[in-house]
Amino acid sequence: MHNAKRIIMNPFIVSGFAGAGYFCNRKSELAKLKEAFRNGRNVTLYSLRRMGKSSLVKYLFSSLGKEADCIYVDLFPAAALQDLTLLLANAVTRHFGFTVKTFPKKIAALLRAVNASLSVDPYTGKPEIKFGIGDARGKQENLEGILSYLEKSGKKVLIAFDEFQSILRFPEKNTESMLRSLFQNCRNINFIFCGSSRGMMEAIFNDAAGPFYRSTQHLYLGEISREDYKSFITGKFRAGGMKIEEKQAEFVLDTCRCHTYYVQYFCNRLYSKRFRGNDRMLYDTLEEILLENQPVYNNYRNLLTDTQWRLVKAVAKEGSVEKPLAAEFVNRYGLKSPSSIQRALASLLEKEILLNNNGKYLVYDVFFSLWLKKY
Ligand SMILES: Nc1ncnc2c1ncn2[C@@H]1O[C@H](COP(=O)(O)OP(=O)(O)O)[C@@H](O)[C@H]1O
Ligand SMILES: [Mg+2]
Repeated sequence: MHNAKRIIMNPFIVSGFAGAGYFCNRKSELAKLKEAFRNGRNVTLYSLRRMGKSSLVKYLFSSLGKEADCIYVDLFPAAALQDLTLLLANAVTRHFGFTVKTFPKKIAALLRAVNASLSVDPYTGKPEIKFGIGDARGKQENLEGILSYLEKSGKKVLIAFDEFQSILRFPEKNTESMLRSLFQNCRNINFIFCGSSRGMMEAIFNDAAGPFYRSTQHLYLGEISREDYKSFITGKFRAGGMKIEEKQAEFVLDTCRCHTYYVQYFCNRLYSKRFRGNDRMLYDTLEEILLENQPVYNNYRNLLTDTQWRLVKAVAKEGSVEKPLAAEFVNRYGLKSPSSIQRALASLLEKEILLNNNGKYLVYDVFFSLWLKKY
């Protein structure tokens, strides 16, 4: 499936990057990322989840073309340093297109360096690197081996670590300082650290005592401008021989708080119905989306305490809340003591069910928020 050419029938992409033509704006962010790379600066790229970081990195990679060897590593599943190394090793293998045949010749050095063996993934048929079990001592050396291999490759290398905040749960001591010094010693490799949890990224990169402190250029990805997104949306419908009124595009954007993924998803659904400006269809489509997700939302209820659930629901009903401890809010929604609300709030922020956006609390997931408000 990976190599299958993507045939795009719906211009509202809901996963990954499919080319500049399907990408709204981000030109200045793209330019900043390029400029940073060309001048040897590492970058921290952060935003809310589903705002567009990962696809922006893909956009950057595609627009750098042959200028660099661009390697993308998603650290989401990584729970220890060994995982990071393995994910990187596999990304390198895939990037250079090593096959089991060419692998030993081409990067025997890498294989030796990481003390690993190559096997074929039984499901995908692609080569995959595996480390020996219990290889605890060589952890840092493995990573160093891969980096030094890349240091010697002829071209400039750009490595993007996505979901970089995962390193905070690594059990190894001094992970941050170890990585920091490894990365800083690279001459030929530049890095982009992406992260969705603002708090976590700030903990890594802004904590004055932390080793990553001020070691990178920061780039915060906000919402796409409402006006630009509006013309992107109306333009795509027009190009497909359909029509969405400006007011309706505004409805989509406002309902979705201009949060990229949700806007894309709503538009994708409208487009697939060959939307032509019917208000009824607009509202029905939104309702369909919310109801489809209902089983997931109902399940959240089982995962939250009663106070947490009431609080999420109250925030959703309000849309956004500045003072969740204010008597008026507490009474209106029959919430309990301020201390229990405080605890619930902390836990919901931690779980990323609520978010704090410039002092205002919101339900993080836009569709969940709308569902809570309505049902
Ligand atoms: N500028 C954009 N224009 C159109 N769609 C976008 C844009 N940025 C992101 N998307 C889409 O929005 C969704 C979320 O983007 P993603 O890059 O996965 O976010 P993040 O990595 O911040 O969680 C994806 O479906 C992606 O295709
Ligand atoms: Mg992402």
